[in-house]
Amino acid sequence: MAITIAITNNKGGIGKTTSAVNIADVLRNIKYKVLMIDMDQQCNATSLYNAKSKDEYTIHDILMNDTDPKEAIQSTFMGDIIPGDELIGQDQSQLMHSPGGYMCLKTKVINKVKDMYDFIIIDTPPSLELAMSASLVCADGVIIPLRADRLSIEGLVRLNKVIMEAKESLNPDLEIYGALLTDYMPNTNLDREVLEGLPEKVKMMGLRSFKTAVRRCQEIKNAQAAGKSLYEFAPKCGAAQDYINVVVELLKIIKGEE
Ligand SMILES: Nc1ncnc2c1ncn2[C@@H]1O[C@H](COP(=O)(O)OP(=O)(O)OP(=O)(O)O)[C@@H](O)[C@H]1O
Ligand SMILES: [Mg+2]
Repeated sequence: MAITIAITNNKGGIGKTTSAVNIADVLRNIKYKVLMIDMDQQCNATSLYNAKSKDEYTIHDILMNDTDPKEAIQSTFMGDIIPGDELIGQDQSQLMHSPGGYMCLKTKVINKVKDMYDFIIIDTPPSLELAMSASLVCADGVIIPLRADRLSIEGLVRLNKVIMEAKESLNPDLEIYGALLTDYMPNTNLDREVLEGLPEKVKMMGLRSFKTAVRRCQEIKNAQAAGKSLYEFAPKCGAAQDYINVVVELLKIIKGEE
C-alpha cells in the first residue's frame, strides 16, 4: 500500500517540482514503485516527465468526469505519472462547492491506485487553494521545500496554519516529514545561518526540518533543459547527491528512526 507524500508550499519557485521529481527518481532508482501526480495547472512535473496533457486523460478528467485513474497513468522514462492539466485551476472552484470536494483526490485517485505503488508523490501548485488542501487531506506526510530567505521562512507560518487545519479537520494522521532547504548556497553566511537556525525555528511552529539541504546546482537546470533525469545527466553533481541523502533521511523518518 502506497505512502502518499505531498510536496507543498504556497510560495512559488522554491523547488517543489524539482524536489518532487528528484525524490521520485531516487525512490524509483532504488526499485520502489512510484507514481507522480501533477496537481499544478502549470504542468511542470508533466513536462519534466515528458508526459502529455493534450489528447490524453489527465487529473482534470479523473476529478471532474470520473475517469478511471488507471487509464490516465502514463509510463515514461522518469516513471509513472498522472499528468496535470491547465483546467485544474478552474476546476478547483467547482470542486470546492461540491460535497466531498476536499476529499476528491483521496476518493477518486489515491484509494483507487494505492495498491499498485510503494510511493505516490503529489506535486502541488503555489497557492493555498483546493489543490493544496485536497493534497494535504489525502497525504500520509508532507515535505515543505523552501529557500534560505526571510520571506520564505515567514511564509511558513501561514502554510503551517493550512497544514494544521487539514490535520485537525479531515486528516488527523498527516505527518510533517520536514521543511527542506533547496537552492542552498553553503558559501554564503546567510544560507549557512538559515540552515543552522532552521530546526529551532520550525520546532517553534510544531514542524521539523531535514538535516540535508539541497545545494544550488547548475546541473539541475541543465538536466531539465535537456529533458533528462538528473541521475542520468549528472549523477555525481552536488544536488543529485543531496536528493539521495534527502531520501535516506525520508525513509528513516517514515520508519520512525529519526
Ligand atoms: N537546487 C537547485 N539548484 C539550481 N536551480 C534549482 C534548484 N532547485 C530548483 N531550481 C530551479 O529553480 C526554478 C524553480 O524550481 P521549481 O520549478 O522546482 O519550483 P516550484 O516551487 O515547483 O515552482 P512553482 O511554484 O512555480 O511550481 C527552476 O528553474 C529550477 O530549475
Ligand atoms: Mg512547481
